[in-house]
Amino acid sequence: MKAIGVFPKTKEVRVVEHPEPVLQSPAQAKIKMLEVGVCGTDREICQFQYGTPPVGWDYLIIGHESLGQVVEVSPGVTRVKVGDLVVPTVRRGCPENCISCEQMQQDMCFTGHFTERGIKQAHGYMCEFVVEEEKFLNVLPPELREVGVLLEPLTITEKALMQTFLIQSRLHWECRIDPTGKTTSQKTCRTALIIGAGPVGLLAAFAFCNLHMKTFVVARQKAPNEKAALLAAIGTSYLSTEELTPAQIAERVGPIDLMLEATGAAQVSFEFLGVLGTNGIFIFTGVPALKKDAIPDGNALMRNIVLKNQVVLGTVNAPYEAFQLGIRDLREFLQKWPVPLRSLITARRPFTTFRGSLLGRQPNEIKTVLEFGTAVVTQEPQETVSLSFPGGSP
Ligand code: BGC
Repeated sequence: MKAIGVFPKTKEVRVVEHPEPVLQSPAQAKIKMLEVGVCGTDREICQFQYGTPPVGWDYLIIGHESLGQVVEVSPGVTRVKVGDLVVPTVRRGCPENCISCEQMQQDMCFTGHFTERGIKQAHGYMCEFVVEEEKFLNVLPPELREVGVLLEPLTITEKALMQTFLIQSRLHWECRIDPTGKTTSQKTCRTALIIGAGPVGLLAAFAFCNLHMKTFVVARQKAPNEKAALLAAIGTSYLSTEELTPAQIAERVGPIDLMLEATGAAQVSFEFLGVLGTNGIFIFTGVPALKKDAIPDGNALMRNIVLKNQVVLGTVNAPYEAFQLGIRDLREFLQKWPVPLRSLITARRPFTTFRGSLLGRQPNEIKTVLEFGTAVVTQEPQETVSLSFPGGSP
């Protein structure tokens, strides 16, 4: 089968002929890949700054934001069936099976010896077929076919929210929402600010608006622009850092309860951390390159963190539960904001044209998706989908 391979030693990225995987154990499914999204991590791997092939291979098949369809299952498989649309998770547990990995919380692996499909020592999804254990597969309802490839980038926010609700249960924090969707008290509904308007930041805006938070997105470019228009359509305000300083933004929006960093830029992130509100939580999700950077006044930051009971949190990868919550949310986004949600995918291209998509950015790009195949089995739409968590509820 064809796959996109990155060769770190010889610094090549090309289509390779890779052995088609076969079912090897009783709980596996074979998946025909339909679409794989391109993200910043893929681009760094293609610039040979990140990413490691599996032991014994001189290339890594990249890609971790995927959507596929099950074409064959082993006899012991019970949760997925031929024809199901599926999105596999990314990280696999460490050989030591540390307490986190043992509990299916590979995203919290203690040893660091985990693998990540398409990133670290495990082949990814930019290929025609994949074989995976069913416990790592998330079944999507058929109506999410056109946006399902956005699930993995959405899980970054889903995990951040899972952690936020857990941490903020230290105080009375949650939005109180009545059945009509209105907040019952302005006092308890939160203000959220997202730093960065890439796919992760924009998907976070959908998630926060869906939770009735007063949501703002800050990015460099001045409005009007396409992203500002998209955000306005879901009820989010867009602010430009070319026009306003972090202090001016804080003054304009009022106390900020939640900041989610989605830029990978340290300088601007620490500037915003300096204007986080009382009892606020600041979440870092970006992975910046290791270059020298001047971080602003540490004393002022430390003083605020203590005197304002603030939390600074880093989060990477996402557990199975975050994928399940993401499926629930994608359905809600699609019902509430179908056009803005679809417009996050700005290009779909055959995988053979990968070079332009992986090695450079397109003007006005949000998410570029590479196509690897078309669905072979059609399904009846289903009305409800239930959340299931191996090992119990989160
Ligand atoms: C992926 C995560 C992964 C992280 C670090 C991100 O792009 O979405 O699954 O853990 O990169 O490798």
